[in-house]
Amino acid sequence: MASTTEVPYKKIEKICCIGAGYVGGPTCAVIAYKSPHIKVTIVDLNQARIDAWNSDDLPIYEPGLDEIVKASRGRNLFFSTDVESAINEADLIFVSVNTPTKKSGMGKGFAADLGYVESATRSIANLATSSKIVVEKSTVPCRTAQSMRRILDANGKPGVKFDLLSNPEFLAEGTAIKDLLNPDRVLIGSLDTPSGRSAASSLVDVYANWVNRKQIITTNLWSSELSKLVANALLAQRISSINAISAICEATGADVDEVAYACGLDTRIGPKFLKASVGFGGSCFQKDILNLVYLSESLHLPEVATYWKQVVDMNEYQKSRFTKRIISSLFNTLSGKRIALFGFAFKKDTGDTRESASISLCQYFRQERATVALYDPKVEETQIWLDLTETAPQDNLETIKKQVIIAADPYEAAKNADAIVVATEWDMFKDTNLDYEKLYSLMNKPAFIFDGRLILDRPKLEKIGFKVEVIGKASHDIGYE
Ligand code: UDX
Ligand code: ADP
Repeated sequence: MASTTEVPYKKIEKICCIGAGYVGGPTCAVIAYKSPHIKVTIVDLNQARIDAWNSDDLPIYEPGLDEIVKASRGRNLFFSTDVESAINEADLIFVSVNTPTKKSGMGKGFAADLGYVESATRSIANLATSSKIVVEKSTVPCRTAQSMRRILDANGKPGVKFDLLSNPEFLAEGTAIKDLLNPDRVLIGSLDTPSGRSAASSLVDVYANWVNRKQIITTNLWSSELSKLVANALLAQRISSINAISAICEATGADVDEVAYACGLDTRIGPKFLKASVGFGGSCFQKDILNLVYLSESLHLPEVATYWKQVVDMNEYQKSRFTKRIISSLFNTLSGKRIALFGFAFKKDTGDTRESASISLCQYFRQERATVALYDPKVEETQIWLDLTETAPQDNLETIKKQVIIAADPYEAAKNADAIVVATEWDMFKDTNLDYEKLYSLMNKPAFIFDGRLILDRPKLEKIGFKVEVIGKASHDIGYE
């Protein structure tokens, strides 16, 4: 593609972001922080969310976010529900709304529900009285930009022109601010036309306020959209690969951490994203792979669809395999036993629970008629009840509450428990930060620990008296030592 700096382009002075969620909020807060000359307004239909963004208690927990927001809020960063004014004054609009997997209709369980993207796009078309650059920020299936362009072209006011860009976000939750301040790359996709290239240059200029221009890459729209899905699919594939190997390790006496380390030292493979776990969660991996599967099927490529689907299947297998190991260690029944579940977020340093492996574990334990006492340092109680009711529609909240207790701290969770299950790798759960002697004294004996995140020092805990079972490591009684 031609260099974007060759075409004249508009300097962006005002930005509007539609959607004040995990992506839109931190991304545009960082843009405002790094570009004091640009006015950034983040809008959302959800009044409570906007109120929280305007308060001392932000709606999202993300290390470093508070400082970034406080430094810019009221200066050049604003949070509002006045969508119309924000759209109208902006030169550039990010569409950063949610794109969940469809729950019904064609493509149910696989395709993305683009209802929110469509409605945000229609609002732009109906409300804008001057030309705009519209940027697709949410993760979307390949060629969504085409649908957005059609809606904009068909509904815009006369004389109002829209240029569409794709600018997928690669931040990971828990490290969002670090990722945004120091991205590996920024990807901007546009139509390869003079006006498309000019729009891309305007956005390149915004990021160039703090990102080296060499790391800002421009591609065609479809490459940009597809790259986001592929990046997530490749990352998730690494986790499913190492998780598949963890099953072999448990059966043979190989140690998955040692295998990952030995393999990761090969520079062609690399050490990252090879941490075996109870399964990946988060709002992106599963959704994006299923999008890729749906896309492959729509393109009549069933082998490609099956190939990627296996990454998600392996993830489900890992969660049920871990549960089976827990049941078999606890003398083949969980009935009437208390399980202390440590962690409900899908990873550490976030309060987000979307697709968290912990939700599945909790439901599996309930099905086995256990009592689950769960503790997470950041997840809100209301969110836990919402997740548990949504994933067990056959049970009402009262029924669930008879089996699930939300504990105030890990010690309360472990009181009279038969087992601790570590599902999220929060630093506070490490044996250097929690008093495991005290936890042991509070529990029924034999006291079990199941480490689904490889964060505990097994010999140290065994010395205390715990029976310890770790993902990707054989049980002591397997006899391979
Ligand atoms: C991911 C991508 O990393 C990010 O680039 C994209 O923009 C959004 O999706 P996120 O889902 O926020 O980010 O977190 P990530 O760090 O990728 O973790 C996803 C899941 O994989 C978590 O449940 C995590 O615990 C798990 N994981 C990660 C492992 O089990 N093992 C690993 O080695 C790495
Ligand atoms: P993500 O992780 O992709 O950021 P979130 O669910 O955290 O997803 O955030 C998406 C936000 O977009 C939500 O706060 C939702 O209220 C908001 N939203 C959805 N549709 C619209 C719309 N048409 N106009 C304004 N805000 C919207």
